Amino acid sequence: MSAVPSNPTRRRLLRNACGIALATVVPAPVVIAEGDAERLLLEARPGRAALRGPARDASASQTAIWGYDGQLPGPLLRVRQGEPLRLRLRNGLPQATSVHWHGLRIANAMDGVAGLTQEAIPPGGHFDYDLLPPDAGSYWYHPHQQSAEQLARGLYGALVVEEREPPAVDRDLLLILDDWRLDEDGQLDLASFGNLHDAAHGGRLGNWPTVNGVNTPGFAVRAGERLRLRLINAANARIFRVDIEGHEPTLIALDGQPVVPRALPAEGQWLAPGQRADLILDCSGEPAARAALRTHLRDGPHAMATFDYAAGRPLRDGPPETPIALPANPLATRIEPDAAVSAALLMQGGAMGSLRSARYRGRELPMRELVGQGMVWAFNGEAGLPESPLLRARRGQTVLIDIANDNRWPHAMHLHGHHFRVLARDGRAVDEADWRDTLLMAPGERVQIGFVADNPGKWVLHCHMLEHQAAGMVTWLEVA
Ligand code: C2O
Ligand code: CU
Repeated sequence: MSAVPSNPTRRRLLRNACGIALATVVPAPVVIAEGDAERLLLEARPGRAALRGPARDASASQTAIWGYDGQLPGPLLRVRQGEPLRLRLRNGLPQATSVHWHGLRIANAMDGVAGLTQEAIPPGGHFDYDLLPPDAGSYWYHPHQQSAEQLARGLYGALVVEEREPPAVDRDLLLILDDWRLDEDGQLDLASFGNLHDAAHGGRLGNWPTVNGVNTPGFAVRAGERLRLRLINAANARIFRVDIEGHEPTLIALDGQPVVPRALPAEGQWLAPGQRADLILDCSGEPAARAALRTHLRDGPHAMATFDYAAGRPLRDGPPETPIALPANPLATRIEPDAAVSAALLMQGGAMGSLRSARYRGRELPMRELVGQGMVWAFNGEAGLPESPLLRARRGQTVLIDIANDNRWPHAMHLHGHHFRVLARDGRAVDEADWRDTLLMAPGERVQIGFVADNPGKWVLHCHMLEHQAAGMVTWLEVA
């Protein structure tokens, strides 16, 4: 927009001061004035991050990354429910980019899918995003152009839409989980971008976990404190399964949408790439204790972060009695199977799979030639974004999609512009009340999802294991 002054007066957005606390410093975005309104300025650009810890020898401990405003994670974006969020993305990268606002049910033209909802923003270019998020909750933003590389380089940040009446907590903590592939010098392993072995297996798994860009950060807490934790899985491919040692947090939201408050599953909370979980944590430990936020891997639990109790006396004697349930979002939840449009989605490919050939850019190719094109996965026999949509729905119509994960790998299926519910698993109706935007599917699993298609436009449905997406796992649907 031409109203943005070319040499804008910058000032800091102060709203963060009273809100979400972070173990590490997550910067607030810069604001540019635009007439009476404000537009946040975000620049995607190269930067450096102390992934391997605080700098003793700065040159050795700093990893070259790409970040929003050059930072890791990118600036925390916050807006009140129902209020507009206006941003300008400037591309300071040597590569085209775009920004997708993961989980926000916003206008299609703002969805940020390069090649479908907008042109990719060239180096040196910019794009203005005007968002009006209808739902409160925990969301995040990241590129939707060469996503596998751009997210692995560090381009992501959290977007929090505040409830008008949030549950009372002492502090609101953001924890963005990631998993980096670093070489011996602590630099990103760039040579393995586009690696087809990764794509045909579990995606780009890393060797260096971080929370908010730091390996095993410590969060200072006080006994008796009540915290809201916002967990976001920003990893390309790593599935986390988290719990908090010795504590019983309560789950209050998944993928931004409130759930009836409940305990975490006994095996820990699964968090596939793209998924979020909001937890209420009553700090029930003793003064001076330490508890780990753990992820459970095949070889046992690993600490991702720690909660470090202060030595002083507890903040209060027992947990507060104030309610923790979140207010409902204005989501259309009336699934009407009788008037629905339905489609089947068959997911095939990958290592040890049965895919022999697939259509790619209009031609049927045998597996060997598909691999030559960087494709190893197909949805309904087609690799990559197809010409025509999986289905077309009328606005307000119920959509049912039967998804069959007919291969040997788990996948994280993400739908843009809508939240959906699981209606059946392996052919049997289930009564699951959670509204998700990303669904973890086990190898061989079949699910039926349903949602009300109330947001017009072209919406992608893809695997959020980004190497899988890049190697074929993407389709789209159209709402008239
Ligand atoms: Cu988080 Cu299509 O993406
Ligand atoms: Cu996948």
